[in-house]
Amino acid sequence: MCGIVGYVGPLDAVQVILDGLKRMEYRGYDSAGIAVEVDGTITVAKRAGKLGRLSEQLEREPLPASHHGIGHTRWATHGGPTDTNAHPHVSEDGRVALVHNGIIENFAALRAALEERGVHFVSQTDTEAAAQLLAIELAETDDLTTAMQRLAKQLDGAFTLVAIDAHNPGEVVAARRDSPLVVGVGEGENFLASDVGAFIDHTREAIALGQNQVVTITRDSVRVTDYDGAPVEASHYHIDWSAEAAEKSGYDWFMRKEIFEQPRAVADTLLGRFDTAGRLTLDEVRISEDELRAINKIVVVACGTAYYAGMVAKYAIEHWTRTPVEVELASEFRYRDPVIDSRTLCVTISQSGETMDTLQAIRYASAQGAKIIAICNTNGATIPRESDAVIYTHAGPEIGVASTKAFLSQVVAAYLLGLYLAQVRGTMFGEEIKTVVDELAATPDKIQQVLDQANRVYELASEMVNVEDFIFLGRHVGVPVALEGALKLKEIAYLHAEGFAAGELKHGPIAIIDSTTPVFVVVPPRGRDHLHDKVISNIQEVRARGAQTVVLAERGDELAATFADWLIELPSVPTLLQPLVATVPLQLFACELATLLGRDVDQPRNLAKSVTVE
Ligand code: G6P
Repeated sequence: MCGIVGYVGPLDAVQVILDGLKRMEYRGYDSAGIAVEVDGTITVAKRAGKLGRLSEQLEREPLPASHHGIGHTRWATHGGPTDTNAHPHVSEDGRVALVHNGIIENFAALRAALEERGVHFVSQTDTEAAAQLLAIELAETDDLTTAMQRLAKQLDGAFTLVAIDAHNPGEVVAARRDSPLVVGVGEGENFLASDVGAFIDHTREAIALGQNQVVTITRDSVRVTDYDGAPVEASHYHIDWSAEAAEKSGYDWFMRKEIFEQPRAVADTLLGRFDTAGRLTLDEVRISEDELRAINKIVVVACGTAYYAGMVAKYAIEHWTRTPVEVELASEFRYRDPVIDSRTLCVTISQSGETMDTLQAIRYASAQGAKIIAICNTNGATIPRESDAVIYTHAGPEIGVASTKAFLSQVVAAYLLGLYLAQVRGTMFGEEIKTVVDELAATPDKIQQVLDQANRVYELASEMVNVEDFIFLGRHVGVPVALEGALKLKEIAYLHAEGFAAGELKHGPIAIIDSTTPVFVVVPPRGRDHLHDKVISNIQEVRARGAQTVVLAERGDELAATFADWLIELPSVPTLLQPLVATVPLQLFACELATLLGRDVDQPRNLAKSVTVE
């Protein structure tokens, strides 16, 4: 939530920050602002609305030329998205400008105490209390780093704060607790940002900041301390994402580009998973095989699309490891007093690795003694760093707010985890594992075959521009696919869409079906006939109520074709792998329909890609 950029170097700070914010806009786009310091004076430009409005304003009224500054793109929590509530916030004495990501939970008490001291507030944000307090600390210490350390100790909640001081030119200081912050290390220039995408055009060298740390950047130095001022050894890493990966490459939307990148994303997630003895390996493992053998329960925690990836994984992991798997929404997990102990394995799935609900869930599980394995797309993010083992999904940067390639690669990574556990626990023979891995290796080509039919799906979307309600049905692993198909439509087309287990339809939801409600049905591959035939019966039930059916079925499935008003053919895959092909037409459908309806597909209203508040 919220994107932050800080810069010190030889370039035009406003341009560098604007470019960085453009890349951060997926994190929030309610308002944006930039602050720079020139000759002992801080100047701010900020505007409600998308970044484009700020850019237009800056063309009319440019900020003074400067070589350091801070910027912010906002997803509002405290105080509506107005010009005044936009960041940066400047202290009453004009000395500091500050941007913030997160929520300062004790802001009301801090604000009341400051108002009692005579400080006047202009916004409704929690952030302004931090800006005012920072100025007070600065007046006492005259050193922005020390003032930031002192400020951070007084704040409850989650935050990344980045500030500049009118009296300390050439320095940008940040503090972090629970919200993301990375340092981009350049030559004669340094960067701060919520995500490496903000500075990838300038440098590939980065430092991941730990919890409760303060960082001070100048042109030539990066200094990291804890909140008491003690120096901290920073962990450097190299970013291997290319700058082009963060561009649209001719597509109208990042989302569409990312849908088409899925064969690559799946193939890359499968790469390099075997040691020389042909045994599966994970990326980072700090759990012993004995501990993994002792596990008696797996709990998957995640949010949104990642949660649906967890639902898919449950079917495979239980089948392969004979270990019970629970899948839980991260936001609910710690409030139900879950039964967890040192024999529980907690698997967390997160594209960003920063989702606050998920982070808090794994901290809770860890405190109860569970071991944590993270499936994550973002190297160095908080969730993998706080986990005992990590499998990275090598999907590359996902910019579109609605998750697509991350979902497919999360399913693949979770399957690899299931196979790894089966290997360690001896519940599958080596050749059985190899068979599944070979089937997984064949899926990129099959996903490509689905993408090759995109025009047919687009045609379907154009037929349905006036439809207001959609139903998605599936059975077994088709259930999370149906839920994901419905979520995509809600997220980007703002249409009412619901996903159900096909068998559950008759227990209530069938009442809403009539001739105006198209029903998308994911038909399992033939071979497990009891499953397949049950879904065929469910299609007949909805057709009998007058619904139009869009049937997603294996190529050559004559029976399913008979009951389809629209048929979308899927390549043949084993049942457990079907989500990897069946989700793709639903993503294409949502993307196209939302485009036809004139929606902002990459930045849908009210959403943000990385949700760093609970
Ligand atoms: C937000 C995004 C979703 C995403 C969810 C979990 O709600 O809009 O697309 O699935 O967060 O995000 P994560 O980064 O943890 O996978």
